[in-house]
Amino acid sequence: MVVPVILAGGSGTRLWPLSRELHPKQLIGLIDEYTMLQNTVLRLDGFEGMARPIVICNENHRFMVAEQLRSIGIDPLAIMLEPVGRNTAPALAAAAIKALEIDDNPTLLVLPADHTITYTEKLYDAMREGVALAETGRLITFGIVPESPETGYGYIRKGAPMDNGDAVVIDRFVEKPDFDTAKGYVASGDYCWNSGMFMFGSQEVLGEMERFVPEIVSACRGAVEKGTSDLDFFRLDHDTFSACPEDSIDYAVMEKTDKGVMIPLSAGWNDVGSWDAIWQIGEKDAEGNVLKGDVVTHDVSSSLLQAESRMIAAIGIEDMIVVETKDAVLVAPRDRGQDVKKIVNQLKANT
Ligand code: GDD
Ligand code: MG
Repeated sequence: MVVPVILAGGSGTRLWPLSRELHPKQLIGLIDEYTMLQNTVLRLDGFEGMARPIVICNENHRFMVAEQLRSIGIDPLAIMLEPVGRNTAPALAAAAIKALEIDDNPTLLVLPADHTITYTEKLYDAMREGVALAETGRLITFGIVPESPETGYGYIRKGAPMDNGDAVVIDRFVEKPDFDTAKGYVASGDYCWNSGMFMFGSQEVLGEMERFVPEIVSACRGAVEKGTSDLDFFRLDHDTFSACPEDSIDYAVMEKTDKGVMIPLSAGWNDVGSWDAIWQIGEKDAEGNVLKGDVVTHDVSSSLLQAESRMIAAIGIEDMIVVETKDAVLVAPRDRGQDVKKIVNQLKANT
């Protein structure tokens, strides 16, 4: 049995001012009429043998998550609620423990709720290979064949090929390298982007976590044991989960395990992590602009202009981002999209 575990607890700070604490990126529609969470779940529709998903998110978002699933006809196994974000390792550990209630060792397909994928069939091919490898006790990460030296991603160096299929042993992980390092990695052809999508048996991932981060596993076991069910919601115990150390699954397990394998994937994947990414995947006019809402332009090219509540008029700009919302306007060169995080941190420090 394959149980999708959808990680939906991030904050999407680089998409400020549209992505806010109460409306983070995974819960808003950036590309089409569906939110990123809905698209993540809907994408699995054609894959055989899939159980209902476990979605894990911050408790503040519970009603939005429940309503977004309901409106696309999805009845989740559980919506697990975190009292606070402790990054992806505790979220995943809690979901892996919870999934043991329905099967001795379900295969987990871990999917961040904030990605777009164009070629679903390619993803399915990789998932099929992943299921077979997970059954042999491997921990699989889906790597993305890189197209450019993105600095917002982790990179994985390919090791020796496995016997069958496209999979390779994971040689090493490098989280978010600087631009020159990333450039070298892409040119070498030896690296893939870390997609943050994984597949492994519940028991296998918990076993490796017991080895490397036992305090996370014990906190999460406690948080599930003392957790409470309420309709579709499963509320992790507040104090136990809050006391859990913070870590990402990449650092906590995938960097350290010798059971790791990577399946490279070219499926038109994008983590939509910045306004530049929205521009890249958006539909462009003849001048290469992505325009949304009430926007008037003269002599504007290769820019993203998005108006939510008022008109934007722009003249003579190139490679720019302008995002207008009711209470904030972002203006930035397109290649500085990663720095939006700095503004958000500055705003947080001031409040
Ligand atoms: N439930 C839950 N709880 N989910 C979380 C939490 C948490 O505390 N923190 C993050 N997530 C979810 C986010 O919503 C997102 O779907 C996913 O986990 C990854 O977290 P991000 O915060 O978006 O990470 P990132 O984009 O900076 O980097 C990660 O993803 C990249 C690809 O998208 C890393 O794994 C990189 O190596 C990777 O390239
Ligand atoms: Mg992300």
